[in-house]
Amino acid sequence: MASIIFTSQEDSWDLAQNEIMKTLPDSQFRKWLTRGVGIASSPLSFDDAALLIKERNVIFTRHIFPLEYECSSSAWSNAIGSIAARLEEARAKTQVQTYSIQLRILDPSLYSYSKHDLTQWMSEDLQKRVFAPELENPDFVISAVLSDFNLYMGLSSPAQNLSSWAGGMRRYERRPDQISRAEFKLLEALETFGLDLSSLPGNKALDLGAAPGGWTKVLSSKGFSVTAVDPAALSPAVLELGNIVHAPMAAQRFLATTKGEFDLLANDMRMDASDSAKITASFSERLSVGGAMIMTLKLPQRKPKDAMDKALAILRRSFSGIRAKQLFHNRSEVTVFGVKSASQK
Ligand SMILES: C[S@@+](CC[C@H](N)C(=O)[O-])C[C@H]1O[C@@H](n2cnc3c(N)ncnc32)[C@H](O)[C@@H]1O
Repeated sequence: MASIIFTSQEDSWDLAQNEIMKTLPDSQFRKWLTRGVGIASSPLSFDDAALLIKERNVIFTRHIFPLEYECSSSAWSNAIGSIAARLEEARAKTQVQTYSIQLRILDPSLYSYSKHDLTQWMSEDLQKRVFAPELENPDFVISAVLSDFNLYMGLSSPAQNLSSWAGGMRRYERRPDQISRAEFKLLEALETFGLDLSSLPGNKALDLGAAPGGWTKVLSSKGFSVTAVDPAALSPAVLELGNIVHAPMAAQRFLATTKGEFDLLANDMRMDASDSAKITASFSERLSVGGAMIMTLKLPQRKPKDAMDKALAILRRSFSGIRAKQLFHNRSEVTVFGVKSASQK
């Protein structure tokens, strides 16, 4: 029997809840700590539940961890002691060499201490009892959420948690040469779907809905020559990069009036999800075999899952290995990945 904390985008809380309930047989929803941070219970062990959640490629659930300790401040030290004892035991069995602490405070205005203060306190307490936490590549993570003066905690491996970032909140450093926030979306998609760009047949990318040029810039920085299609202007800084051609027209017109094959098809066009999926599907004939497709599906406020399912059905007819995920950097959208296999030629 496991209690599980699961996390999603605030606006997708109901979609994530349904997803967890559907994925874990006989599970029950307990409560929301806040929109997008919920607690569910399952008759399965956490290990089995985490495996199932991972295998099903959940779309709206961003991060999970086992809820093993739920305590008010008077009991925090005992809980830390119990976690320390488990870490010591796991170290003796050489199951763990390193661990880190991931803490989230849901409403920081309630407390006189910060996330940093509390992490520091936990870290020092653990170090006295067992060994010091590390930040990089930990074998185990102590995940904790502070909500209404209660600490919700559990110990698991980063792989079980779906994301190695606290709450699945993947952060990238903002850089002065950043063109748009959308850059993070593409970086996160490449990481999430594990796309090895060097495995693609070539280095020609087509970027539909490219303006102002964030995705184009990321692709150029990864060694692609990019054809950026958008009636809107690209940022001058992007045009100055090498290996970029701007086709200032709609994607439909580009398809009808040009020739040429590409190895990566990117689409971040702002349009109805099914219409965008149809356009992506019609471009599959211009993708080399073994080429990959990454696109966003903009979801409506009403019946977003129906719109997504309809668009995914369209994409499945032209691409294999379709996977969808609502990334931390997606707002009312999901990001989809697929490949063109030889049978789709
Ligand atoms: C969210 S923005 C893309 C941001 C871009 N990925 C970036 O990283 O900077 C959406 C773009 O889709 C473009 N768009 C909408 N309909 C289009 C169409 N039919 N063909 C090409 N571009 C389109 C819009 O002009 C807009 O620039």
